[in-house]
Amino acid sequence: MKRVAIITLGLLLAAGMVFGGGRAETARIDIGIAMPETHVERWQRDGQSLLEDAIAAGYRAEVAYGDADQGRQNQQIQDFITKGARVLIIGNLNEGVNSVVREAAEEGIIVIAYDRLITGSDQYDYYITFDNFRVGQFQGMAIEEALNLRAASSSSPKIITLFAGSPTDNNSFFFFDGAMSVLRPHVERGALRIVGPAPLRSSDSAFTRVATEGWRAENAKARMENLLTNDARDVVLDAVLAPNDTLARAIIEALEADAKYVNRLPVVTGQDGETASIQAIRDGRQYMTVFKDTRSLAQGAIQLADALLKGETPNIAGARRDTESYDTGMKVVTSFLLEPINVTSDNYRAVMIDSGYISESDLR
Ligand code: BGC
Repeated sequence: MKRVAIITLGLLLAAGMVFGGGRAETARIDIGIAMPETHVERWQRDGQSLLEDAIAAGYRAEVAYGDADQGRQNQQIQDFITKGARVLIIGNLNEGVNSVVREAAEEGIIVIAYDRLITGSDQYDYYITFDNFRVGQFQGMAIEEALNLRAASSSSPKIITLFAGSPTDNNSFFFFDGAMSVLRPHVERGALRIVGPAPLRSSDSAFTRVATEGWRAENAKARMENLLTNDARDVVLDAVLAPNDTLARAIIEALEADAKYVNRLPVVTGQDGETASIQAIRDGRQYMTVFKDTRSLAQGAIQLADALLKGETPNIAGARRDTESYDTGMKVVTSFLLEPINVTSDNYRAVMIDSGYISESDLR
């Protein structure tokens, strides 16, 4: 018995060593995919699609999720560098990523900023994303239309409160400025009244007071609860500008706990086409979302990686090449912008379900 056990152990150890050796060999990768977080649904879809598309294009690839922690993501990126990655596709958290981006550049590794611009760096050349200003415009236009703002006047203004995304995410400024480009004229002529902090542009100092650190639902919910008992106590809100679906639902939760809004919710905007928000749109609780098909973004990013690895000029089908809009603060990077889609109860079925992004059975 004893001998058998020893032999078995010996075999296991040998197997482990072989496996260990083999693993070190197979762990080498071509493309490292670093996604920021999983508390917002889309990133798991991005990560999965990027991985599948990279493998389908013949590359060895690995994906990691940063748990909304830049230090953690930096370790993951360093691990990709150690594994020999030739391309890094990064959706970062904040500028803390720049030390590893520099390290990668020094080793001749191509860095692609994915969805979020990596600011404060001149160590990379390409960015692929959606038209983020347009995302905000859709949100602003939805509010303008739903509240019939063009017909509103200062004698009976509509009432809104504003939320923005994380101040550490460059996209947040674009979403906000896109939305305010539509709403600002109505505020300026008195037809739309903002309760709570009232930045009219992301460059206004009050922007930080409407921003939602880390895109965290609990932060948005707490702030909405606070508004309801303070600045918005004596009014009935007609709309809430919410930058994405995760935050929209948290805001709706806070509103629904207030007797004033039971069965009479304000127009709440969103973004991402998250399953729970499509459900809320179907049920008339959330007004709209903006769909950004992560499958197309992932496909575009792998096409970009592939072209760059082969030394070819990238040309991404369905994307607009933009060499002006995205300035890291140190250089303007070549950007490829995909088109987002406005989604309401009128078209969610055609856009979200017929495209196979979510299935009817996902909706409860
Ligand atoms: C993305 C959004 C997402 C948000 C929070 C942004 O950078 O563009 O799609 O909702 O981050 O994760």
